[in-house]
Amino acid sequence: MPELDSKHILLGITGGIAAYKTPALVRLLRQAGAEVQIVMSASARHFVTPTVLQALSGLPVRDDLWDGGAEAAMGHIELARWADLVLVAPATADVMARLAGGRADDLLTTLCLATPAPLWLAPAMNQGMWRHPAVQRNRQRLVSDGVLLLGPDEGEQACGDTGPGRMVEPEAILAAISAPSATPTETEQILLGLNVLITAGPTVEAIDPVRYISNHSSGKQGYAIAECAAAMGAEVTLVSGPTRLDTPVGVTRIDVQSARDMHDRVHENIAGQDIFIGVAAVADYRPAAAADQKIKKQGDAADHTLILTENPDIIASVAALPERPLIVGFAAETELAEEHARQKRQCKGLDAIVVNDVSKAQIGFNSDYNSATLIWEQGEVTLPFQGKEALSRQLLEQLMSVFGMRLTVPPGALGPT
Ligand code: C5P
Repeated sequence: MPELDSKHILLGITGGIAAYKTPALVRLLRQAGAEVQIVMSASARHFVTPTVLQALSGLPVRDDLWDGGAEAAMGHIELARWADLVLVAPATADVMARLAGGRADDLLTTLCLATPAPLWLAPAMNQGMWRHPAVQRNRQRLVSDGVLLLGPDEGEQACGDTGPGRMVEPEAILAAISAPSATPTETEQILLGLNVLITAGPTVEAIDPVRYISNHSSGKQGYAIAECAAAMGAEVTLVSGPTRLDTPVGVTRIDVQSARDMHDRVHENIAGQDIFIGVAAVADYRPAAAADQKIKKQGDAADHTLILTENPDIIASVAALPERPLIVGFAAETELAEEHARQKRQCKGLDAIVVNDVSKAQIGFNSDYNSATLIWEQGEVTLPFQGKEALSRQLLEQLMSVFGMRLTVPPGALGPT
């Protein structure tokens, strides 16, 4: 059972059908040891009653900025300071828009603006609403303002539609907010003294000087891991295929194009590394011979063949080194994800593999979100659907808890004691 010992949680409930799950959420939060103060929006009352929520939280439910009696007991600014964490679940399209616009037009949005505590939202709405560009614009604005988003999940919806927009289940909300990574400001230096080499992004395999074969990898997950590892104290080297991303603070970046470039740069930098994480989507094949000049159209209406040859498997070649770091691979799968990943881990000789099912909307390539399963020889753990930054923290923490004993920090690396 996750622990929230005596944490002050301000739970905002807004008017979506998923509000019917909030009594169960309140019970879970209380069982985990949290104190829960509920603030409802006016429309939330149509879905769940304050009486039920008050009974479960043990505190009167607040819903009005102008309630003199409640304000006399604990004013809204005091309440904003009281909170260790603010969670809005469910968060409707409307509250997301109001928060993204910095509005303070009811008690909940006023508290969200006034609080210094981390703000988490669990969006819930119809899949068409979630996909609407206005909602996605607000989502992006909120993420760049530092708001932490949980989900939404995808699947069958109360309205009969299927798609993204279901509120993340109360158990998953509890797991996410009680994870050690839940408070972004408290980055523990658990990788201090360690060298970490990461590959990220796609590779680009030339057909001729203007054409190439590549894939949809954005590099976001690899860059997020690099940034997080550096924030946790590691010396990070990032060997990156072409991306549009900025180099994370404190990270040494080496740019490459092809799989063979990536292979060579990795091997030039592997000595002295403690951890190698292969996140790059390396092209398995390249054109057997890239043409020196642009290939001209034949105009003969015939089919043409491009002969491909296999690229080196970078991660497997690192795993075959006599002195090898801890090696973690990534696997993007579209079917039988975990089974294929288990086989891949063994075949390539990896210590662990992170698998995600990219057939699910919003997961993997180009998305800001991911969910994954970390698999190693003796176990596996699910990293729930969340932003790629939060997932990176959980992943590195999990790796250190499973393999930390194997990673010996060289004497003196931590500086004079
Ligand atoms: O075989 P598959 O491409 O699914 O394996 C994924 C893992 O292997 C990733 O960690 C990826 O970075 C790595 N890989 C590699 N070199 C290749 C192909 C994949 O390092 N040629």
